[in-house]
Amino acid sequence: MSLKARDKKHLWHPLKQHQLNPDSLAIVKAKGCMLTDEDGNQYIDAISSWYTCMYGHCNDYIVNATYKQMQQLDHVMFSDFTHEPAIQLSEALIKILPQNQNKIYFNDNGSTAVEAGIKMALQYYFNKGEKRSLFIAFEDGFHGDTFGAMSVSGLSVYNGPFENFLIKVKRIPTPNGANHKAILNQLKSIVSKHNVAGFIYEPIIQGAAGMKIHNIEGLNSILEFLKTKDVLTIADEVMTGFGKTGEHFASNYIETKPDIMCLSKALTAGLLPMAITSCTQAIYNGFLSDDMAKGFFHCHTYSANPVACAAAIAGIELLTSEEIEKNIKWISNSHKTFSDTIKHHPKVKATRHIGVIFALDINAKMERYGSLRDKLLKFFMDRGVFLRPLGNTIYIQVPYVITKQELQKVYDAITEALEIV
Ligand SMILES: Cc1ncc(COP(=O)(O)O)c(C=O)c1O
Repeated sequence: MSLKARDKKHLWHPLKQHQLNPDSLAIVKAKGCMLTDEDGNQYIDAISSWYTCMYGHCNDYIVNATYKQMQQLDHVMFSDFTHEPAIQLSEALIKILPQNQNKIYFNDNGSTAVEAGIKMALQYYFNKGEKRSLFIAFEDGFHGDTFGAMSVSGLSVYNGPFENFLIKVKRIPTPNGANHKAILNQLKSIVSKHNVAGFIYEPIIQGAAGMKIHNIEGLNSILEFLKTKDVLTIADEVMTGFGKTGEHFASNYIETKPDIMCLSKALTAGLLPMAITSCTQAIYNGFLSDDMAKGFFHCHTYSANPVACAAAIAGIELLTSEEIEKNIKWISNSHKTFSDTIKHHPKVKATRHIGVIFALDINAKMERYGSLRDKLLKFFMDRGVFLRPLGNTIYIQVPYVITKQELQKVYDAITEALEIV
């Protein structure tokens, strides 16, 4: 029996209505940018499996580093012990994170990195004896699927059924270059009426919203203002982190640095699940006390898993290598050229790009999980390209090791697809 047939017996997939769409394609191998299915068909992974495997699938350097680590130390409880891979990773991260970040807290995935960030902000004020319970977030943001992360995300099919169970959040528009005075007025009104603990944001680019890029100066003025009101700022770099925007972190583009940062996805190069919530020394100090209860009692069993740490260390070594830095630059330039050639096409409403991220809005109404989107997905797969449109946005986020021919194939598939929408 095929894997596709066996899958249906016991498996329940995320983000899927099984009654309408019962089949899942079985992938048996992944190497570099290429996925191979059980029938031997190959697809370029043009979205890096949700922005994780940025150095290519099964990258030999990362695989070897994790294999070596597996033979030495698999897992120990991080609440009681420490180990070389966690220490080495913290040192490597502190070197590339914005300068104000000084402490590294381990989690399992992007949502729990956000969850821990939200809890840090809430408990920071709880420990001080200050009652602050409200969060501010951007409209249409996406921060994950646990309750705190769902609360600060924009309302959608993801969190709609749980609306009555979420923490209190006020949502503001993203800055577009013309609206930041209005946003600041809205913020002034919010902070005058509520005790605000934190503001969470996807810096510069909102991934799940359709790779929407917002205005850097506008974002900076929001952060600057909130800092004057002691509202803790949390940069969710789960999607943007580790080179995607052309900088190691999107926060590098912004003058005002966050108090807390959430990292995952490319952190472990697509090999193993892990996440990190980093913060400033000041946030960490807010948990130091003779009172045990003021410590941060948030823990995941697999915290700082040594094998995942080894993958992350190897990933950072690649990220900071000359070769990857060069690759990010040529991919970025190539996106610019593609954008210039395609943006006047009558079926194209808008294009945007930053680093290895490219997005194109189609001039057609498309449901996030509707029939046109399914038709496009199939169209791309039939041409050997895995692209996953978000609403009417087709986006590319390729591994840094993609070849020029592979990237051209992705562009060609998108150009051809415009004829069927
Ligand atoms: C910006 C952002 N934050 C958080 C998450 C949640 O991460 P995870 O799916 O690992 O829980 C995502 C996932 O796409 C994301 O893009």
